[in-house]
Amino acid sequence: MQKELAVFSRIVDRLLTAEQQEPVLSPMPAKSIEKQLHLSVQQEGITTEKFEELLTNLVLNTPRTSTKLFFNQLFGGRQSKAVLGDLLAVMLNNSMYTYKVAGPQVGVEKTIINEVIKMIDYPETANGTIASGGSMSNLIAMLMARDKADPDARYKGLTKKLVGYTSEASHYSITKNAAFIGLGTENIRKIKANDKGKMLASALETQINEDLLKGLVPFFVNATAGTTVLGAFDPIREIYDVTSSNNIWLHIDGAYCGSVIFSKKYKHLIDGVSLADSFNFNAHKMLGTPLTCSIIVVKDKAHLYDSLSMEASYLYQTNEDDFNLGKTSLQCGRRNDALKFWTLWKAIGTNGLEQIVDTQFELADVARDYVKNHPDYTLYSYDNSISVCFNYKGIPAQKLCTDLYEAGKVMVGFGSFKEQTFIRFITINATNNKEDILNFFAAIENFNYQ
Ligand SMILES: Cc1ncc(COP(=O)(O)O)c(C=O)c1O
Repeated sequence: MQKELAVFSRIVDRLLTAEQQEPVLSPMPAKSIEKQLHLSVQQEGITTEKFEELLTNLVLNTPRTSTKLFFNQLFGGRQSKAVLGDLLAVMLNNSMYTYKVAGPQVGVEKTIINEVIKMIDYPETANGTIASGGSMSNLIAMLMARDKADPDARYKGLTKKLVGYTSEASHYSITKNAAFIGLGTENIRKIKANDKGKMLASALETQINEDLLKGLVPFFVNATAGTTVLGAFDPIREIYDVTSSNNIWLHIDGAYCGSVIFSKKYKHLIDGVSLADSFNFNAHKMLGTPLTCSIIVVKDKAHLYDSLSMEASYLYQTNEDDFNLGKTSLQCGRRNDALKFWTLWKAIGTNGLEQIVDTQFELADVARDYVKNHPDYTLYSYDNSISVCFNYKGIPAQKLCTDLYEAGKVMVGFGSFKEQTFIRFITINATNNKEDILNFFAAIENFNYQ
């Protein structure tokens, strides 16, 4: 192993230097990767020298998501303390299903979950798990809601005509998961959002009443804390008024921006979160841990067991269920995604996490001010969001993003909302500073669009 660690260290050194010198790569045509990077495998192995050369080449030709010019997705940057934790998780290679196999790593995961539960004022009945991403956290929430509304569903398939609700601006995983849980995508109602991308609670109420009249069973409402395009926060209290009077499960999908719970200044954006039945956030988005790390908590842990536990005598052979996390998780074998978040949290403290979150909003303010004060830009997004959406000089957003990507200048994506398409600039990399934000705009302005 020592030899491989030395190889690792050499390759990472090269990568870190390359990231500084060339933050964005010109993309390699997808059709040529196999040949250019010698991806095919053979019957015989290769020499250690050749192996290191090929591996270095592969790493150096991979898109650089941790640099100062990567703004393409809802993650970016590198929190080194979290990277350290993840590297150690790989070395340890535990599976999180039992205490016997994961030992104190179970305590690491439970610490995170218990702290989050306290932070959102959930009662002692609460519990949670770590899922492999926000989509899977949403799936767990939908399963729990389904099994609460239709307890036979788990054994016999759906026995009731369930319908779920989410805003038109929410993440596609809600609809996708409807297929997974046997509901069918057509049984998710897309509720209208206002011009700022927030779900209209009045439209939700109207739709629920219509469905009740038809004899359908509303079972689940998803409210989003940070919509994928505009970064909008649905009004939780208004939505809760509707769900509570109809006994419907309320889930808060905070995959993108639920981490505002760590910020005294911004947690008001998810005011009312403690009213919800379940809540998730991705530490791999706003908090900058490596992919993936999604925490879901549920107010009444009985639902986690009801929907996720399954007896398996070949697996659960020691200890109480509370320490055998496989009883409350989606998977069987499960990566230790807790350690990287814990190493970060432990090292920089809750205050450090707060700083990470606040920095992103400060950088977004810088970007929004720039766009507002520059006549060549049109702004499409709003305050209190780390998604800054705009167009530049009327250049179609798709063209601008693709031209810059192909030329290896900057990686940024585009999005649409209510018939408008625009560049979606995400200030999620908290290791950036004001100058980096201005450099992004300079990269846009200095490019010669044909
Ligand atoms: C609001 C929201 N929910 C869920 C997800 C899915 O998260 P993941 O990519 O971790 O599955 C995203 C991803 O961007 C998101 O923006």
